[in-house]
This record gives sequence, C-alpha cells and structure tokens, in this order.
Amino acid sequence: MRQQLVYDLPTRIFHWLFSGLFLVAFLVAKLVDDESSAFSYHMLAGLTLSFVVILRIPWGFFGTRYARFSAFALNPRDLLAYFKGILSGSRKLWVGPNPASSWAAILMMVLALCLGITGFLMTSGINKSFEDFHEFLAYGFLFLALTHIAGIVLHTIRHKDLIGPSMIHGKKACASANQAITSARPAFGVLMIGLVVVFGLNLFNNYDSQHRSLQFFGSTLQLTKNEDSEKEKAGDKEGAENSRGKTHELKDADGDKD
Ligand code: HEM
Ligand code: HEM
Repeated sequence: MRQQLVYDLPTRIFHWLFSGLFLVAFLVAKLVDDESSAFSYHMLAGLTLSFVVILRIPWGFFGTRYARFSAFALNPRDLLAYFKGILSGSRKLWVGPNPASSWAAILMMVLALCLGITGFLMTSGINKSFEDFHEFLAYGFLFLALTHIAGIVLHTIRHKDLIGPSMIHGKKACASANQAITSARPAFGVLMIGLVVVFGLNLFNNYDSQHRSLQFFGSTLQLTKNEDSEKEKAGDKEGAENSRGKTHELKDADGDKD
C-alpha cells in the first residue's frame, strides 16, 4: 500500500484555520471575563471562522478530487458499515474523508455558519434572544470536534493506519495506484491565506476598542455580552425593560434630529 497525495493545500490550510479559530472562539468565550475587552476576540475569531467556511464552499465544488463535497461519504449505510468495521476490525479503505469524518466535517461547517449568524444577530441588536441557542450550538460543535479527534485516534489504533498527519502532509495510504491528486494547488493555498489575512485586518481596522464596536458590512456590531439578558438572568427584569426603554428614547431622539 502506497502513501499518495490526496488532500490539497487549501483543504489542509482550511483544516487548521478552522480548528484553530474554533478553539480561540470557544476558549475566549469560556475563560475570559465577559466584562473584559479581550472578550471581543471571541466575536472576531468567530466571524473569521465563518469567513473561512465561506471560502471552503466554492472549493467543495471546484477543488481537487477529495476536497469536493461530492467525495464526502455521506450515505448513512456507509457510516453504519464504517462503525461496524471499527468494532470488528475489518477495514475498507477510504481514500478521501471516511464516513465519520465526512459527517462530522459537514455538521461542523454548518454549525460554524449558524454560530456566525446567531452571533451577528445578537451583536447587531437585531435579535438578542439567541443567547441560549448560540451556546447550545457551541457545545454541539465542541462535542463533534472531540468525537472527530477520538475517531481519528480510534481509526489509527484499530486499523493501524496513521491518518492524523494526512491533514499536514496531505498523504494517505491508498490500495491502488493512480488515486493521487496531481497537484496540491499551492497558489490557491496562498490565495486562501491572503484572503483570510485581508478579512482579519479589515475587522481590526473597523474595530473601535474603546467602545468595543465593529463596523461590519454596513452594520454596527456591539462586541460585548448581552446586557439585557444578564439583567433578566439576575431577576432584574424591570432594569432590562428600562434599558430597552432608554435605547428606544435614544433612537427617538436620533430620529427627531433627522
Ligand atoms: C490534532 C487534532 C486533529 C487531527 C489530527 C485531525 C485530523 C483530521 C484528518 C486526518 C481529517 C481527514 C479525515 C479523513 O481523511 O477521513 C480531518 C478532517 C477534518 N477535520 Fe480534523 N483533525 C484534528 C482536529 C480537528 C478539530 C479540532 C476540528 C474542528 C474544530 C477539525 C475539523 C475537521 C474538518 C472540518 C475536517 C474536514 C476537512 C475538509 O475536508 O475540508 N479537526 N481532520
Ligand atoms: C465558532 C464560533 C463561536 C463559538 C464556538 C461561540 C461560542 C460561544 C459560547 C460558548 C458562548 C457562551 C459564553 C458564556 O459561557 O457566557 C458564547 C457567547 C456569546 N457569543 Fe459566541 N461563539 C462563536 C461565534 C460568535 C460570533 C461570530 C459572535 C458575534 C459576532 C458571537 C457572539 C457572542 C455573544 C454576544 C455572546 C454572549 C451572549 C450572552 O450571554 O449575552 N459568537 N459564544
């Protein structure tokens, strides 16, 4: 069995940006005091993560063979057979993502986008009531990421097939010849990094650290914890109503000026 190149560079870059940004967003949300200005890095990392997923979508159609969504093994029967194979030790080789990785990958990408959307709705003030749902999605994401890592370890032990590093060097063991992709597409990898850097710099340039607000494609995002929900949680519903009232008053005052 020969090691052959299956994952192109953009897919590998996506993988480590995706997992790294998820870790930053999650750890900041859980470990940093939400009153502190460093909490804003949670939102900045989360928004960049959503952008990285948006870049992955066209690559899922026009990328190399195993980067395409059509190469993902999403048939439920394959997933069942894959788990049975892990239990019995029998092995079918998947050159691209195996069924468990395929499901986990698609679900994690969808969750990342949903976290971005609910986060945007909360911070733009359009709908602040997504707080619990947002946190629920984040824990679902964490569960999948941990299951994914456990799956890679289990696969390596049961099948004596070291697949983990394939997301670094791009190579996997293939049963027959000619299954490799012909190019790692380095130019697209560099382009992907470039676009993410431009997006990140753009976020920083439009971020006002004093007021903790971000100008984001025509919307103003308030990168702080949802104060109304805090008050409501503390049982101070009246306080929350008052603060809402004040916001309306401010808006009305603005309206009068116009
Ligand atoms: C040390 C930790 C990790 C290792 C060694 C690893 C390894 C891998 C490998 C080998 C694959 C391809 C699976 C296959 O060929 O069947 C993969 C795919 C994937 N992993 Fe990980 N992973 C790790 C952590 C993570 C984390 C923390 C996340 C998410 C937060 C993640 C998200 C993904 C995604 C989204 C894919 C699909 C990539 C694509 O096709 O675009 N991984 N990973
Ligand atoms: C991978 C992406 C993300 C993950 C994993 C994530 C995770 C979390 C978690 C776990 C919390 C709860 C923190 C706590 O215990 O109090 C939280 C809260 C929050 N997140 Fe995210 N988030 C992500 C993306 C975003 C984005 C993109 C935004 C906004 C643009 C955002 C805005 C918020 C806000 C405003 C809160 C506080 C809600 C409140 O309690 O008032 N998040 N997030």
